[in-house]
Amino acid sequence: MPAEAGGRPDRVQAPFGRRLCEVIESRAAGGYRIFTLADQTGPPPAPGQFFMLAASPDWSGEGGRPYLPRAISHARVSEHVKGGLRLDFLIDEVGPGTSRLARMKPGDGCWVAGPFGGRFSLPKQLNSKAAGAILVGGGIGIAPMAVLRRELVDRGIPSRTLLGFRDQQHSGGIDELFGCEETRLAYEDGSSGHKGYVTDLLLQLLEGDDSGSAAVYSCGPPAMLEAVRQICLERGLPVELALESPMACGYGACFGCAVPKAEGGYMRLCIDGPVVRGDEIASAMAGEPAVG
Ligand SMILES: Cc1cc2nc3c(=O)[nH]c(=O)nc-3n(C[C@H](O)[C@H](O)[C@H](O)COP(=O)(O)OP(=O)(O)OC[C@H]3O[C@@H](n4cnc5c(N)ncnc54)[C@H](O)[C@@H]3O)c2cc1C
Ligand code: FES
Repeated sequence: MPAEAGGRPDRVQAPFGRRLCEVIESRAAGGYRIFTLADQTGPPPAPGQFFMLAASPDWSGEGGRPYLPRAISHARVSEHVKGGLRLDFLIDEVGPGTSRLARMKPGDGCWVAGPFGGRFSLPKQLNSKAAGAILVGGGIGIAPMAVLRRELVDRGIPSRTLLGFRDQQHSGGIDELFGCEETRLAYEDGSSGHKGYVTDLLLQLLEGDDSGSAAVYSCGPPAMLEAVRQICLERGLPVELALESPMACGYGACFGCAVPKAEGGYMRLCIDGPVVRGDEIASAMAGEPAVG
């Protein structure tokens, strides 16, 4: 199902322009929502890639917002629904765009552009000594981790998954997206699993491990990503992070998504990311979300 892996050069290219896809399902998933689109013409996205989505009609409601499409990672991809791909998305309603997407009903339309950006590397591409992968997801950032996890399982590559949430209202989709595969959970409020941060679980795991034999992947809030980045850099562990920044186009044209590189200068996260190596960036505390 996933595109052939081979690091970022082998990214799946987005067709030019946007296409109208039908909403097949929309359902509550804990404090989040999962909706499903039938994509009849787009190519299969790879783990780490994302789409630009806008509900149709009535995207720009009162006051003109959200106006711009919103960057959303796919949370699962499978064949075939209505002669195309079945794409699942996990949504946290934080503003007008995500709220409008969450209100879409079966039969509605959704404008889709993408898939954009580059994919996660495979563990051996990131670390030639890697025996497996450690996946660290936080909040809505569990979506790309679920896609990567599925690809690793399909390829027979061992992985361990650590997921962290603030509380039950800010979590969801774990059972549906990760199934019965083993995951370790951390909730800051202690309502389930470990009470504290998901990075506590990462530190525990690394204490019992030969650090040199792992490749680490992470997606989540900037503070969590920066903590994961520091933990890995301190131990010389290769790590890839899926970052967020304000995105208006997805094609590399607007420069809205620029983040500083460790070596100086900037990268456009929509085409040079969103997956970046931990040592490529100065910090994972990327810019504030855009208003548009
Ligand atoms: C590559 C990429 C992949 C993404 N994947 C997903 C995904 O799978 N699911 C998903 O729900 N979102 C995802 N996002 C985030 C989403 O695109 C942004 O949150 C977007 O700005 C939401 O639009 P909005 O109109 O709902 O809120 P906005 O009007 O943009 O923001 C409303 C308010 O919420 C705050 N806010 C914005 N984003 C967040 C956030 N992430 N967490 C907490 N507060 C926030 C803002 O500061 C503002 O105060 C992704 C972003 C990127 C760049
Ligand atoms: S979103 Fe426009 S350049 Fe990246």
